[in-house]
Amino acid sequence: MKKHRVAVLISGSGSNLQALIDACQTTDYPAEIVLVISNKETAYGITRAANAKIPAHIIRHVDYPTREEFDAAMNEVLQQYNVEIICLAGFMRLLSAGFVQKWAGKMLNIHPSLLPNFKGAHAVADALAAGAKESGCTVHLVSEEVDAGEIITQSKVPILAGDIEEILHQRIHEQEHILYPLALKKLIAQIQ
Ligand code: GRF
Repeated sequence: MKKHRVAVLISGSGSNLQALIDACQTTDYPAEIVLVISNKETAYGITRAANAKIPAHIIRHVDYPTREEFDAAMNEVLQQYNVEIICLAGFMRLLSAGFVQKWAGKMLNIHPSLLPNFKGAHAVADALAAGAKESGCTVHLVSEEVDAGEIITQSKVPILAGDIEEILHQRIHEQEHILYPLALKKLIAQIQ
């Protein structure tokens, strides 16, 4: 079985990266993570990559004068590793139109809400503030409009009385760790 070459882009803890690493370690999973890129040198996900013996490159956005130059630096490394699919996993940078177009149909993101509800960087807090009765997570293809690409799959979680952001996000995270490996597998089945 062909293992598709995947890069995971992170900015932080990388618990979704970990879920993808774990899935890829099973023999019948159709992907391998060949590269991790972090735009922050402090991201714990870099340690997760090292533990799994996956090369991790730190490409700091602050070192590049424009978004396009930062994205070009990432593309160079992605090409070196013959990456076929990108998974954004808590990657907190907007991508240039050129980068998004280059990876169209081959770049996934995970978002902590039931899109199209609660787009943006504060999705969990926004769902609570809106008094929603349920939330969840979405894996979608990345398009130029933020959090608006084709939805691959979603998972719901209840919002319970007394929930605060950390508790709800924890509940969503548990679902994300199940959902992201399933979504990546589904995308691979679609594109091959
Ligand atoms: C996740 O909740 C994801 O939906 C959002 O950022 C968070 C990343 O968490 N885009 P982690 O770094 O994977 O633990």
